[in-house]
Order: sequence, then structure tokens, then C-alpha cells
Amino acid sequence: MIYTIFVIILLQYEIAEAVQIPAEIQKCSLSDSQFDLCMAKSITKAMKVFRDGSREFGIPPMEPLELEKLDIQTEPGNSVALNQFYKNVKLSGLSDSKILKFGSKPVPNACPSWDIEGYTPMTRMEADYSLTGQILVFPLNGHGKCNVTLYNITNHQKANCEQYTKNGKSYIRLKNYSMNMTVEKCVFHFENLFPGNEQISNEIEKTINENFMDIFREVKHGFEEVFSTLHQDAANNVFSKVPVDDLYLP
Ligand SMILES: *[C@@H]1O[C@H](CO)[C@@H](O)[C@H](O)[C@H]1NC(C)=O
Ligand SMILES: *[C@@H]1O[C@H](CO)[C@@H](O)[C@H](O)[C@H]1NC(C)=O
Ligand SMILES: *[C@@H]1O[C@H](CO)[C@@H](O)[C@H](O)[C@H]1NC(C)=O
Ligand SMILES: *[C@@H]1O[C@H](CO)[C@@H](O)[C@H](O)[C@H]1NC(C)=O
Repeated sequence: MIYTIFVIILLQYEIAEAVQIPAEIQKCSLSDSQFDLCMAKSITKAMKVFRDGSREFGIPPMEPLELEKLDIQTEPGNSVALNQFYKNVKLSGLSDSKILKFGSKPVPNACPSWDIEGYTPMTRMEADYSLTGQILVFPLNGHGKCNVTLYNITNHQKANCEQYTKNGKSYIRLKNYSMNMTVEKCVFHFENLFPGNEQISNEIEKTINENFMDIFREVKHGFEEVFSTLHQDAANNVFSKVPVDDLYLP
């Protein structure tokens, strides 16, 4: 593990047992030859349906998705010597994500290994930041407000699935969630990157934005881990309340 990730989601709800998947989300049939297509549509729909959060499923509101704290630290000796701390994080745009492709392997079954291709037109993050370490050639020790906007994000997500029994019923959960993310463009705004000197701060910010793709490559792994955790938790919040028998159509 290269990164130590620490995320706290603000709203945690009391969880009710045994709830039904909202009727707007189409259930898929394991015997449907278009099972994968159906799953891609249903997951895309679920992100819209759960946009404002769901108490009974323990899903926090997604627009914006608020994280109290997000620490992305590199281990000593890693080539990317940048520690990122964010507080009062607000993420928006995630509910507009689309699942382009859902691949279940080896064949559709109640607990498929997930292999997903997703697309998000735009994601924006606003937060209070603190950065220490080095970015490009600049030593950094800055803090203040930041906002980062990512455009045309494509991602590849994978997870293993595991079946377990609770109160005599069978449930599934995702494990080992991982994600690879690419973007077409990103815009970084970090105030006060070089405390006490606005001119240098602005110069660094300008250079960062001129080299946005290199910067994104340097910082993306931490975010891939964070998004993996968020996706896995959201999916498992749903799966832990709906027994397998009620997840799919016959
Ligand atoms: C994102 O993709 C759309 C559709 O392909 C394109 O029109 C748009 O220019 C892209 N935006 C950026 C910022 O690259
Ligand atoms: C992401 O890339 C890494 C390294 O190339 C690979 O090990 C991992 O399986 C990939 N994950 C996904 C979901 O594509
Ligand atoms: C998760 O990954 C570990 C290590 O590769 C593996 O041993 C484990 O079986 C995986 N979990 C599932 C549910 O497949
Ligand atoms: C984004 O951050 C920049 C630099 O701190 C700031 O000037 C701008 O007002 C911010 N924009 C929004 C919409 O918060």
C-alpha cells in the first residue's frame, strides 16, 4: 500500500434492517441474456435515485457529497513526495456518472466479480486544504481554500464479490474495490500555496494548471483509493440490507 487514506463521511444514519430496492431502479434477471446491460442501466439509475441520500439505506446526500476530512499521505521514499490534507470537503457532480459497461465474470451470477467502465462529465471538489512536500520543482507548505474541477472522467472499476449469510438469508458484499481514473482536463485553484507571497502563489498555481495532466497523474492514486472506498461503502450499504433473493428478478 502506497497511500494511507483516511476518510470520514459526515452523515451516518441509523440503519433499518430489510428494506426494498426503490421501485424506480429496475431489478435485473440473472437469466436475462442482457444481464450486463441491465446492470449498467440500473446502477446508473441508482446514482440518480440516491442523489439526495437515503436514510434507510444509510447513504448520505451526494450533491454535494460531504467528507469531513480526507488525508492522502505518501509513504516516505515514494517518488511523489506530496502530503495532501483536506477538510470540509464538498464533492459534486458524482450523481451524473454513467456506467458505460458492466461486465460480470465468468457468467452472470448472484455474486459477480465487478468490472465496470464509468464516465462522469464533471466533478468538482471544494475544500480547505493543506499541502506539504513537493509538486513539480516547487517545495510546498501551503494552506487555504481550494477548488478542483475534473472534466470528462473515465474510470475502470473492479471488485470481487463475496456471499455471506445473515439471519438465515444470503447477502453479497464487494471486496477489494479498485479504480483507474483518467481525465481530459482539470483546473486547480489553491489559494495561498506559498504563504505570505501572493505573487509566487499565483505563479505556482499557474504552472500547476499549465501542467495539469502531470499533476493529475501525481495526485490521482490517492483519489482513486478514496473513490473506491466511497463506491464500495455505498454499494455495500445497499447490499447489506437487501437479501440476494430480493436483489434480482428470477
Ligand atoms: C468533454 O467531452 C465532451 C464530449 O466528448 C466535449 O465536447 C468537451 O469538449 C470535453 N470537455 C473538456 C473540458 O475536455
Ligand atoms: C488499475 O491499474 C493497476 C496498475 O496498472 C492494476 O493493477 C489494476 O488492476 C487496475 N485496476 C482497474 C480497476 O483497472
Ligand atoms: C481480495 O483480495 C485478496 C488478495 O488478493 C484475496 O485473497 C481475496 O480472496 C479477495 N477477496 C475476495 C472476496 O475475492
Ligand atoms: C476557487 O478558488 C479560487 C482560488 O482560491 C477562488 O478565487 C475562486 O473564487 C474559487 N471559486 C469558487 C467557485 O469557489
